[in-house]
Amino acid sequence: MSTDREAVVWSRIGAIPARMGRVYITDKDCRFTYDDQYLETGLPGLGVVYAPEHFGKTTITMARNERFDLLPPLQALIPPRHAENFQRNLALKYLASRGIKGLTGFDADWEILKVSGHGGIGHLDLFEDDDKARAWYNNVPPQELYSIPDELGFSLKEFITWFEDDIDVLIQTIGPTPSVGGAIPKLLLAIPASGWDGRIGLPTRQKSPGVTDVVLKFEQTTRYPGIIELEALAMDLHREAGFDVPRYWPCQFRDMPALAIERFDRTANNLPLMTESLFSIIASGAPLTDHFSYRYDFLARAIDTPNIEIVTDRQAGKAHVFQRLVMSLLTGNGDLHLDNLSIMQTDKVRRFTPVYDPAPMRAYAQHDMLSVMPFGDYGDIPPGGNTPVGLVEAIGRLAKNCGLDKPQRDNTLHRLLEVTRSFTERVNTLATVPDANKERLVGRVRSIRDQLSG
Ligand SMILES: Nc1ncnc2c1ncn2[C@@H]1O[C@H](COP(=O)(O)OP(=O)(O)OP(=O)(O)O)[C@@H](O)[C@H]1O
Ligand SMILES: [Mg+2]
Repeated sequence: MSTDREAVVWSRIGAIPARMGRVYITDKDCRFTYDDQYLETGLPGLGVVYAPEHFGKTTITMARNERFDLLPPLQALIPPRHAENFQRNLALKYLASRGIKGLTGFDADWEILKVSGHGGIGHLDLFEDDDKARAWYNNVPPQELYSIPDELGFSLKEFITWFEDDIDVLIQTIGPTPSVGGAIPKLLLAIPASGWDGRIGLPTRQKSPGVTDVVLKFEQTTRYPGIIELEALAMDLHREAGFDVPRYWPCQFRDMPALAIERFDRTANNLPLMTESLFSIIASGAPLTDHFSYRYDFLARAIDTPNIEIVTDRQAGKAHVFQRLVMSLLTGNGDLHLDNLSIMQTDKVRRFTPVYDPAPMRAYAQHDMLSVMPFGDYGDIPPGGNTPVGLVEAIGRLAKNCGLDKPQRDNTLHRLLEVTRSFTERVNTLATVPDANKERLVGRVRSIRDQLSG
């Protein structure tokens, strides 16, 4: 037995909150229809594939499947179903505190979505109904900043080590926080626009001069010792390589190391910008089971799809994919999956967002892999051949698929090798990364450098 469900999607992307459309979920399908009035605004819709210019008044229908109960841009509002997921547990605890308990599967997802599907990353706000939406937009608490209270730090720390007894204190102090995807515990918060000074507030919901929004990522020191310092170093290197990188502040949240990263999905006036991950975009057009079940070469092809504008400057977009993969190889990060690459839109222009989540994950045995997605047929035996495609050849093939000629490819490789020359040395100066992790990371990166400079 199942009951059809419905919800509404709103957005404040046009400064004044407006309903974008309505969602229906049956036992078989997820359906979405844009409001006529919203279509008239010309503002971005659900996402790149499900854009108003492609669908207009026609209902968008997707058959529910194992991975997606909802259209991918809406599914992205639900924290993944892992027992250890911080955001998910936070939302479930909040629901339990209101007497909603024992839900599993999509029943749980749906309740989570109704309480935390608005005010998160990006421009889409999902609500149970229009009254709930209006109440949320019309009752914005004053934008105040508080010093981090001692008790909160303690209970949050307990939560992060998965002892959840004191979660009530966290919920009382910061409320049910909007959800953020990903594996690492994090919170969306506001901090002074001048930078981290130990004061925090709830994420902005209206123009708030002097305040900026951040993602605060916590270090799980047992599992990933030193990851904050490593992620900060990787951000620095990407900035030195010419990528757009958000401002960030390594900090202590009580006695926990954390990284506050300024959000790029908000304007200077605290309005949302349209953002969508490549996972959501690709999954909107092709059957994907995981955020890594794809190939970088296919990304280049997707960017070239004639009727779908993933990025406005297609050649720059393909070059970006190539450069990001090379940077990942050179900084020991094998984790550049489809959820770690996103598109944003300002005015009518779509481009890759600034860099996020570039942590050199190869420092950790459980993530020590060259690349989470295949590229350039690396390791495959080509038809008619008998030796597997090597690293240099695979990079050459990817460069070609990304539309780069040999001089462009060699220039990029040479430049990025140069920019990352100091990486291993800088890793060795980090205070919180254990020696064994440094050795692993430095060893992997040296080997890549040797192969690429050969
Ligand atoms: N500075 C930012 N501005 C806006 N959105 C961001 C920013 N940083 C991260 N995000 C969003 O939050 C999500 C989670 O962040 P991030 O990828 O850094 O965390 P993670 O938990 O380490 O992810 P993973 O599961 O890949 O390890 C991202 O996929 C992205 O959508
Ligand atoms: Mg991530």
